[in-house]
Amino acid sequence: MLEFKNTLNRSELNLDPMKQFKTWFEEAKQCILNPETVSLATIDALGRPALRHVFLKQYSDEGFIFYTNYHSNKSKNLELNQQIAMSFFWSKLERQVNIQGVAEKVNPKISNDYFLSRSRGSQISAWSSHQSCVISDRKKLEKNYQFESEKWQSKKMMCPPFWGGYLVRPTAIEFWQGREHRLHDRFIYKRSKNLAWEISRLSP
Ligand SMILES: Cc1cc2nc3c(=O)[nH]c(=O)nc-3n(C[C@H](O)[C@H](O)[C@H](O)COP(=O)(O)O)c2cc1C
Repeated sequence: MLEFKNTLNRSELNLDPMKQFKTWFEEAKQCILNPETVSLATIDALGRPALRHVFLKQYSDEGFIFYTNYHSNKSKNLELNQQIAMSFFWSKLERQVNIQGVAEKVNPKISNDYFLSRSRGSQISAWSSHQSCVISDRKKLEKNYQFESEKWQSKKMMCPPFWGGYLVRPTAIEFWQGREHRLHDRFIYKRSKNLAWEISRLSP
């Protein structure tokens, strides 16, 4: 069982926020159900924020990857404005990680490899659903699913051209550790002009 740390000190922060994220994410995996659940905000054509949850599927030194339908509302928003915000909340650890960044589509090979690793049901579902479009009723969805199931029985599965990943390259990442009396620890990493990360403590 993880021994909860309820402080975050400057001296223990990794200078690289992605490494710091890895430390926290690995700890969250030990005690939180679905720690990969992340809220994700985009901006629509009228400048209004739009928020929903997705699953973080991969992360690396470059940033954070999630997968979705490229015709969905979030993807339409990202076509117009690549700016994105994400927030993880891991209640048991009293931790929050807030990310601002710029999203770009990943290489189709990365999407294809990930798509082929998914369950058959998820693959068929991706082919069947016009995500974010109005649909007359559930029957229509189930009919599409049935149609795609039969279609792919005799064909080699492939990733839909309208489905894939986004890489979020972070421009700022904040690590928030809840503390007693709401005297929380907050550290924000921001990219400086020379691309190094600058770390500042924020008031709670
Ligand atoms: C916990 C959770 C995880 C989700 N993960 C994803 C995901 O990884 N990709 C995705 O496209 N939608 C995911 N969804 C559905 C989205 O929240 C959303 O309904 C969908 O992507 C359409 O969003 P949009 O219309 O804003 O584009 C998830 C929903 C929940 C509640």
